Amino acid sequence: MTTRPEVLTEFIRVARQHFASDRLPAEGRKIAKEVFARLDDSSDDGQRAGTRYPACEWLDASLVALSGDVRFRDIAMALKAVAPLIGWRRRTSGANGSPGYVEQHANGIICGPGGAESRSDVQLGLTIMLPNTRYPDHSHPPEEAYVLLSPGEFRQGDGEWVDPGLGGGIYNTPNIVHAMRSSASPFLALWCLLV
Ligand SMILES: [Fe+2]
Repeated sequence: MTTRPEVLTEFIRVARQHFASDRLPAEGRKIAKEVFARLDDSSDDGQRAGTRYPACEWLDASLVALSGDVRFRDIAMALKAVAPLIGWRRRTSGANGSPGYVEQHANGIICGPGGAESRSDVQLGLTIMLPNTRYPDHSHPPEEAYVLLSPGEFRQGDGEWVDPGLGGGIYNTPNIVHAMRSSASPFLALWCLLV
């Protein structure tokens, strides 16, 4: 056990509720439940991904928009409080990303390698994208659940683009190819992976 900052404890408490929403697919809720059960024990190897990227500056605007909806004010405030501790990474490869997507997105790690609580047994974080950005197709062995916190759409395999709505979610089976895209407004979603 390591000491967990209060802002991180609060973020985990609030995020857990949003990943338990019945607006997520049941399989997504199930893996999120296991992720948050693991997070009942804090664990931190001290690694920090300290670089900030241009898209990080869009987080505040997304949180202001999100906090306008009373159902999401708690997660907006919890994210704002934990934001200084987030570790940032970018995806730089993958098919079908929109031109400039590398500069127009950032992935924030809250619990996971290089994050606010750096550990390898789970990943809990977020993706920000600027308007009119399409994230590249990607896949990974761990199962994954997303919670959408802005306008936006998701795609799995060669399927149709799907908008789960604010607070809705997506479940990705191991190794399924998936992507997301924004339109006129910035994209913000939380994700968790059962590593
Ligand atoms: Fe993913």
